[in-house]
Amino acid sequence: MFKILDVKQLSKEIKSMKVSAPEIAKKAKPGQFIVLRIDEKGERIPLTINDFDPKTGSITIIFQEVGKTTKKLGMLKKGDFLIDVAGPLGHPGRVEKIGTVVCIGGGVGAAVIYPEARALKETGNEVLSIIGARSRHMVILEDQMRKISDELYITTDDGSYGRIGVVTDPLKEILTKRKIDLVIAIGPIIMMKFVCLMTKEFNIPTIVNLNPIMVDATGMCGSCRVTVGNEIKFACVDGPEFDGHLVDFDELTNRNARFLEEEKESCRCKKDF
Ligand SMILES: Cc1cc2nc3c(=O)[nH]c(=O)nc-3n(C[C@H](O)[C@H](O)[C@H](O)COP(=O)(O)OP(=O)(O)OC[C@H]3O[C@@H](n4cnc5c(N)ncnc54)[C@H](O)[C@@H]3O)c2cc1C
Ligand code: FES
Repeated sequence: MFKILDVKQLSKEIKSMKVSAPEIAKKAKPGQFIVLRIDEKGERIPLTINDFDPKTGSITIIFQEVGKTTKKLGMLKKGDFLIDVAGPLGHPGRVEKIGTVVCIGGGVGAAVIYPEARALKETGNEVLSIIGARSRHMVILEDQMRKISDELYITTDDGSYGRIGVVTDPLKEILTKRKIDLVIAIGPIIMMKFVCLMTKEFNIPTIVNLNPIMVDATGMCGSCRVTVGNEIKFACVDGPEFDGHLVDFDELTNRNARFLEEEKESCRCKKDF
């Protein structure tokens, strides 16, 4: 059993949760994730390790309440327990001296990119960050991202905070004016796809962090299959980070929609809450 040490509301739909998981905190690296189950009947869901502290034996996850399991997770309080937390899983992100790196986080993707952006800064890179959100109330981790970034750009779809527009607007300006060595983009599939289309034009290497539906997260079930450069990969064991210029985003979009009816139905099923 894994004790919940703290819960914070970051925005209307997004919460951070600190969980006691000493073995995971000891081994975790930026870019890795865990798979958790809330209770015996719960489904397994993957969430990125946003922060980890080997001294206190704790890890922090940040999640958006989008469906049944994340909504049930959001109902838990400090002192409650999770039945399973497995990890750290997946390959760590590329943390080395690269030069100037643009780190893009869309929506809850800001939580996923933060540990990697921080590690890149600590390794001596210049970090230019872009956070994109639908609206002001969806912008998360602004202070943390500002602290570890040489420059921070914020965009909102409705213009309620930062500049109106999408993350590719400041990205285009940066790529036009500056020499950039690497772009890392994490967020909705559509955002990662358009970032990659733009960086391909500018010939800038680009890493994306894919979010296919995962079940076992051990490479056995095939649920997280993605096509990268015409090769079949399993995001849980081969990723979750991949060369964005090689990813078949349209296939990923279609595969992620394959349980939409069941997901809607399980959210309607009030007895489960
Ligand atoms: C490696 C990885 C890291 C992730 N990190 C984060 C994170 O840090 N914060 C965060 O908010 N979200 C993260 N996600 C997405 C998160 O796993 C889903 O939002 C969650 O599983 C939704 O479950 P649900 O029951 O609440 O919603 P549902 O209603 O069941 O599904 C809503 C949508 O979530 C996705 N989803 C559903 N089940 C899964 C599953 N088992 N695996 C992956 N995606 C699923 C599908 O696209 C689905 O359409 C990550 C996904 C992956 C693959
Ligand atoms: S989640 Fe089963 S193979 Fe990746």
